[in-house]
Amino acid sequence: MVTTPAPAPAGGGAWEGRPAGLPGAVPPPSVPLSFLAASAIGLVGCGVAWAWVSGTAASDPTADPVVAAVHVGVLATLSMGVLGATHQFTPVITARPLRSVRLARATFAGWLAAAWMLPLGIATEQVAVTAVSGAMAGLAVVLLAVNLTGPLSVRGKGASVTALRVGVSGALLTGFLGAAFVGDRQGNWFALSGHVDVAMGVLGLFGWLGVTYVGVAEKLWPMFMLAHVPGRRLPGRLAVWGVGLGAVLLAPGLAWSVTGLAVPGAGILAAGLGCHLVSLGMHVRHRRRKADLHLAYLVTAAAWLPVAAGLCLAAVLVLPTDHHAGTALAAAGVAAAAGWLLEALVGHAHKVVPFIAWSALRARGVTNGPAGKPLMFADLYDSRWAAVAYASVTLGVAALCAGLAASTPGLTALSGVVLSICGIVVAVNLSAIPLRMLRGRATAEPSRALVGGTGTAHASAPTPIGRRRAERLRRGRGRAATSR
Ligand code: HEM
Repeated sequence: MVTTPAPAPAGGGAWEGRPAGLPGAVPPPSVPLSFLAASAIGLVGCGVAWAWVSGTAASDPTADPVVAAVHVGVLATLSMGVLGATHQFTPVITARPLRSVRLARATFAGWLAAAWMLPLGIATEQVAVTAVSGAMAGLAVVLLAVNLTGPLSVRGKGASVTALRVGVSGALLTGFLGAAFVGDRQGNWFALSGHVDVAMGVLGLFGWLGVTYVGVAEKLWPMFMLAHVPGRRLPGRLAVWGVGLGAVLLAPGLAWSVTGLAVPGAGILAAGLGCHLVSLGMHVRHRRRKADLHLAYLVTAAAWLPVAAGLCLAAVLVLPTDHHAGTALAAAGVAAAAGWLLEALVGHAHKVVPFIAWSALRARGVTNGPAGKPLMFADLYDSRWAAVAYASVTLGVAALCAGLAASTPGLTALSGVVLSICGIVVAVNLSAIPLRMLRGRATAEPSRALVGGTGTAHASAPTPIGRRRAERLRRGRGRAATSR
């Protein structure tokens, strides 16, 4: 049986060797994988940075070296990962390709430069380096918006598309605010007090990264948990609106100390996040897949949200009487909110990366797993190392929150070491087996040529995936494969 590649649309969906059955708009695997690989390396850097600044963070969580460590986390790790997911899922959800793969690669290069130059510039007090990083961040978010406006102009695709639109707007606002902050470092233009800095945290973590995750999760959870939630799934839709609107009100409320914006903003944000948790609960209740590591990742990630809320509330209560303790609690609250996204990112990476690698391998003609059976997603990583990643990311976030809240350098340093280990484990575990398979394929090809094969492996090679599954894939329902 010979499978035929699905017709490739123009723009970012057209790439050589796209396997049959993969939705036509999906970008080449190298687009999301470059962001996701850089995100894992970012996590290693983030851990090193926190271990390095652990002493400073205990005495002053707003000191420059700490700001540098924060940004290795939020820019090189979290935003990088969310950008990878955005480039993969926007075309999938909207069924429209990116405007251009080149733009996606330029966005990656710009964000990579910004994500590493900003912390380096701040840590080494090189204002020119921070200035370039601000320009790079601004450029990268503009390129992102240009690339995604095409697919995101689609109508009638529901809350996930709304979330992606809000997320791209949040990325633009955060990028420009970051560029303004960086500009301020050239000549102290504004008074950047602690609550202005927290406003950036709210905008970046919830108005961009959080709302994107909340929206995309509504599409991924039914697939990954095999969950059919009956009805119109109102909590999921309310979550998108609540998180987006809450962040849009809370951030300026904090920046300009306008209680009339900050208080309703915080309330709406909390309600939106609450709806997100209710939606998760509904998916968990209606799932057909047994409890597994992915579920543990999701539930633990969600648990960081009430922890973040508790720490932030404690900070608000303590700040008027004890400034140091209040700042430490606020920093721990930001860390817990980032922990929500980090744990979810690492957990989803164990589903999404094998899925993308599977298409990449099939595009090169690799159709069988190590045991000679049809290639499964589970063949592409070691589940024991995935459990190590779960343990290390959970311990890392817990130790970071505790170390910052209690101003204990030992715990903050421990979190740094454990987060670095997590980054290494994730990067190696998710890439080693696919790369080995690719190498095996490359070495097998000359011998195939010698025995009379074509020597070229491409999507039209016969596949052993079975007639019914191939039929489903050909009809564009590649999603079915993700449930394996
Ligand atoms: C997801 C995106 C982002 C998040 C969550 C975020 C979060 C934060 C937080 C929490 C702080 C306060 C840190 C502290 O006081 O310890 C901060 C400060 C800062 N951020 Fe960001 N940030 C983001 C993106 C950016 C970008 C893109 C830039 C510029 C390229 C940037 C530049 C800065 C600068 C320069 C400061 C220090 C401001 C000062 O001098 O007080 N940030 N950010």
